[in-house]
Parts: sequence; C-alpha cells; structure tokens
Amino acid sequence: TNPNHLKSKIKKIVIRDYEIETWYTAPYPEEYSQSPVLFVCEHCLKYMNSPISYQRHQLKNCNYSNYHPPGTQIYRDSQQRISIWEVDGRKNINYCQNLCLVAKLFLNSKTLYYDVEPFIFYVLTETDEINPNIHHFVGYFSKEKLNNSDYNVSCILTLPIYQRKGYGNLLIDFSYLLSRNEFKYGTPEKPLSDLGLLSYRNYWRIATAYKLKELYEKYLQSSSSTSLSNTSLTISIDILSKLTGMIPSDVVVGLEQLDALIKNPTTNKYAIVFNLPKINYEIQKWEAKKYLTLNSKNLLWKPML
Ligand code: COA
Ligand code: NA
Repeated sequence: TNPNHLKSKIKKIVIRDYEIETWYTAPYPEEYSQSPVLFVCEHCLKYMNSPISYQRHQLKNCNYSNYHPPGTQIYRDSQQRISIWEVDGRKNINYCQNLCLVAKLFLNSKTLYYDVEPFIFYVLTETDEINPNIHHFVGYFSKEKLNNSDYNVSCILTLPIYQRKGYGNLLIDFSYLLSRNEFKYGTPEKPLSDLGLLSYRNYWRIATAYKLKELYEKYLQSSSSTSLSNTSLTISIDILSKLTGMIPSDVVVGLEQLDALIKNPTTNKYAIVFNLPKINYEIQKWEAKKYLTLNSKNLLWKPML
C-alpha cells in the first residue's frame, strides 16, 4: 500500500511555546505524520518530530536569524506592533509549502501544498513585546499571482491561539486594500469554510456600514457648505463596490445584513435604504471590541501585484 495513505497520527503541533490541537489532517511525509506531536518553527515553519531537534533548531539551526518570515515587509504598524510580509511562492518554495501544510491542519477542504509557485503569501506577524526584532507568526492569506477571476484571497488562516481577536478581519481588510490598489474588485475563492464564511459575512457588513456612513457624512458636509438645494445622496451597489473593493454581490450581502435593501413589489427592483441607526449600531458594536485596525498609510511600498 502507498505509505502516503497511512493515517496521520498528528494530534497537536507545538509552535512558539504553545500546544495547538489540530483539526484536520495534512499530508506531511510519513515519518512526521506518524508522530502525535509535530514541532513547528514559527519563523521558517520547518517541522520536526522530536522536542530535541526542535530545541536544537530554535537555538542554532534556524536560518531565519532575524526572526521574521522571508520576503518583503510591506506593511508595518509600530503602534499596534504588527507587520505583513509579502512572500513569493516561487522564491520561497519551502517556506510556502510548510505554510500550506500548517494551514491544512485547520482546513477540511483540499488545498494546494506543493504547487506554491503561482501564489503570493501575505503573512501577518506580531512584534514581540520585549524584543522588537522578533516577529511572531499569527496568520496569512494566499493569493494567485495571475488570475482572470475576481479572487483576491485563495486561502486564509489565523492560528487558533490567535483566533477571535480580529486578526482574520485585519487580513481580509488588507486583501481588499490590495484590490483597491490594483483598481479591481475582489472576492475570496469558493467554497469558503464555515469559519471563512462567518468571517467574510461579518467583514462585508462592517465594511459596507463604514462606507455608507462615510458617504452620508460627506453628503452632510457638502449640503451644508453649498446653497444649492439639489445636492443629493447618491448610493448604488456599483459605487459601494468601487469604494470597498468588494464585488457587487458581496456588497449586497453587506447591505442585506444592514437591513438596507428593499424590494419594490410592483417593479421587483431593489432600492438601497439608508438605515442610519442600524449603521451606527453595527459600527459602535464593532469598535467596542477594540480590535486592531488597518491603516493604509502603513503600507510601505507598492505590493508586487
Ligand atoms: N464563530 C462565530 N463567528 C466567527 C468565528 C467563529 N468561530 N470566527 C470568526 N467569526 C466572525 C465573528 O463575527 C468575528 O467577530 P467576533 O469574534 O468579535 O465575534 C469576526 O468573524 C472576525 O473574526 P476574527 O477574529 O477577525 O477572525 P479570526 O482571526 O478568528 O480568523 C479565520 C478567521 C476564518 C481565518 C479562522 O477562523 C481560521 O483560520 N479558520 C481555519 C481556516 C479557514 O477555515 N479559513 C477560511 C477558508 S480558506
Ligand atoms: Na472576539
């Protein structure tokens, strides 16, 4: 029988000083998949099957002497202590393959592991509180370099120890910032996992709420600073799509959750209703969580795409 079909015994991974229970299996080489615990270096993502080799690796063998992912730091926020690194799948094949294997441990669907060259990986790190040269791996998303579709995210992961703190939302926000820089719309590759869908639906609602509020405030300003009585608030799905970088059908999902779409029963056409209390409620609820925020000013240079 093909040894690759031996059932994986990996139950948890050790990364940084955390033990994380795995959710699904990943096609690690047999000598690793037969170990119940896999040790993963958070800097180069090399995997090991014994605590001794892991210790030795951490102390002297890791080539990532600067303690950050390979590639280019394209986003840095010193105040919130986060960075995003752009890693080319062609230039850093090993790192990207290791990254995909880790992600597979938390994804049920089939994903790529070995054919990483057509992808770019955006890796989110958090700067160590004590040593600013150490960047801790938090999560990432991958993106196809050349694609004719609207997909702006192929796969996205937040390590479970960092989940439900807003990092996934920050990565999603960053993926749309890249799309807006490319003057494109984007949407995540389908099918989404359950957690992916929950995160994206939340993002589409919040992003749409912020844009509607911004348009409304601009309208208030212009209507008070001009004597013209014909200023009007024009909102359309297309306008929202251009401003957010979200494809029109995802804007619709955002609007629906804000109770902002109504169907005219005679024409069967939809109209956008501006529900300011609901918009304010959603924004306040989100901001009360005090999650990290993305600031486009922190983009260091033009991303590769
Ligand atoms: N249950 C309910 N809502 C969830 C959720 C969960 N487990 N995870 C995310 N959400 C929604 C919530 O509204 C959440 O806000 P809240 O925590 O304040 O309620 C919002 O999304 C933002 O969540 P956030 O903390 O930014 O997401 P995350 O850092 O936990 O990352 C994923 C989200 C999808 C990246 C993460 O769950 C993950 O890595 N899952 C495994 C891999 C995967 O399925 N990827 C997607 C398909 S490629
Ligand atoms: Na949370």
